[in-house]
Parts: sequence; C-alpha cells; structure tokens
Amino acid sequence: MPNPIPRHVAIIMDGNGRWARKQGLLRVQGHEAGVRRVEEIVRAAQEKGIRYLTLYAFSKENWRRPKEEVEFLMGLLSAYLDKKIDALIKHNCVFNVIGEIGDLAETLQKKIAEVMEVSRKNTGLVVTFALSYSSRREIVRACQKIAEQTLRGALQPSEITEETLSKNLYTADMPDPELLIRTSGEMRISNFLLWQISYAELYVTQKFWPEFTRDEFEKALEDYKGRERRFGDTCPVRGSNR
Ligand code: IPE
Ligand code: IPE
Ligand code: MG
Repeated sequence: MPNPIPRHVAIIMDGNGRWARKQGLLRVQGHEAGVRRVEEIVRAAQEKGIRYLTLYAFSKENWRRPKEEVEFLMGLLSAYLDKKIDALIKHNCVFNVIGEIGDLAETLQKKIAEVMEVSRKNTGLVVTFALSYSSRREIVRACQKIAEQTLRGALQPSEITEETLSKNLYTADMPDPELLIRTSGEMRISNFLLWQISYAELYVTQKFWPEFTRDEFEKALEDYKGRERRFGDTCPVRGSNR
C-alpha cells in the first residue's frame, strides 16, 4: 500500500539567488520570483489535502546577509501579508509563524499578529512561515521552559519525556513532518526543524526554488508515496504517516 498523502510537508526554499544569477537578474529578483512559487505551492498543498505546510523563509543565520538584501526580504514578506490576507482567509487557511519573531521590525510583528489572529479559527491548511528561525535556538528555548517548570516544582526531571520537549517547541500543536523538501540541491538541513524531522523522508531536488512549480511539488509527493518507511523495524511500515 502506498503511503498516504503526508499530513505535514516542510520545505527549505533555497536557490533564489542562484536562479537569478542564471537568468542574469539581481538576487532580489530571485526572491520576487520565489514569492510567486510560495503562492502556487500553498494552493497546491491545499488542493492536495495536506494539513500543514511549513516554509523556511528566513533563518536566524540569514541576518548575516547584506543589509539591503535583508531589508528587501522583509519588505517582500510584508507585501505578501498585505496581498494574501484575504485569500488566506477565503481559502480557510491558518497563518502561523515560528522563530524569533521579536527580531523582526515592530510593524511587521504587528502585521503577523493580526493575520494570525484573523485566521486563527480557520480549519483548513495551516501555513507556517519559519522566520528568524533556528532549530537549535528553538530547542534551547524549550529546555529553558522545561527547566523553569521543574524549578517551580510543576515537573520532576524524571518526568521529562520526548513529548515534553516536543510540547515546548514552537511546533507544539503540529505533527512532525513526514516529508522534508529542499530545493536547489544542497544536501544539508541548515538548522531547520532538527528535532521534528527525526524520521521525515528527505527529498532534494536540483530545481531552484523559483523553478519549483506545482508539477515539481507533485513529483515530490509521488516520490514520497513509494518510500519504504521503516521506523527502525525490519520491514516497511507502508501506508503509514506514523
Ligand atoms: C533562498 O534563496 C531564500 C532565502 C534564504 C531567504 P537564497 O537567497 O539562499 O538563494 P541562493 O542559495 O543564494 O541561491
Ligand atoms: C536556508 O537557506 C534558509 C532558508 C531557506 C530560509 P540558506 O541559503 O540560508 O542555507 P545555507 O546557508 O546555504 O545552508
Ligand atoms: Mg541559499
């Protein structure tokens, strides 16, 4: 039996800069083209019945980039929210953000909070943007929260389980991703969802993010369908999103 459609797909949207260079364009034009793919893939995920789509849009490490590029990316995000808020609501999507949101400009933080609030009660696809996100920082933050609970006496150290950690991550309310996609060929995780992807299927494509169309997305889902998921067992656990 093939695997069912994954409940949660996470994507490392990489390669905007290289795509732009290949076309003789500026890096920022690559980012603009990338936004169009975000719109397309969100729609496709919705139509496929995926429940959670988590997009790595800006890492904690991406602050190291030239100021102009960072500002451009923040502007794009802000414009995306202005433009897409109605569509996200109309399509019953929940908009969500993970990462160190306090790093963002206050106006952007406010806008994010508004969109999260108005879409909170929707029941369709949960679209999560990872912004100023670092998986290691997320894990450290979870440890701090757990340490506070133990200091307060609300939790004994011996009661700390894997679930305790999961429940103290930004992703507490989501299942772990069954499928992690990375575009543009890099074989690395770049500090994304390290805890959550322990048993995710990895799919790396040479396509740059601006080339990652609905068809490419469908190829990834098709590939996932045929994966032998074993979870440490000797035989495949097919038909499983465990
Ligand atoms: C991904 O594309 C977008 C972000 C990281 C914000 P890149 O900007 O990393 O593009 P490359 O990897 O330089 O081609
Ligand atoms: C990962 O891409 C982060 C995002 C896609 C937002 P990078 O382009 O920043 O990754 P590295 O630095 O090449 O690993
Ligand atoms: Mg990159």
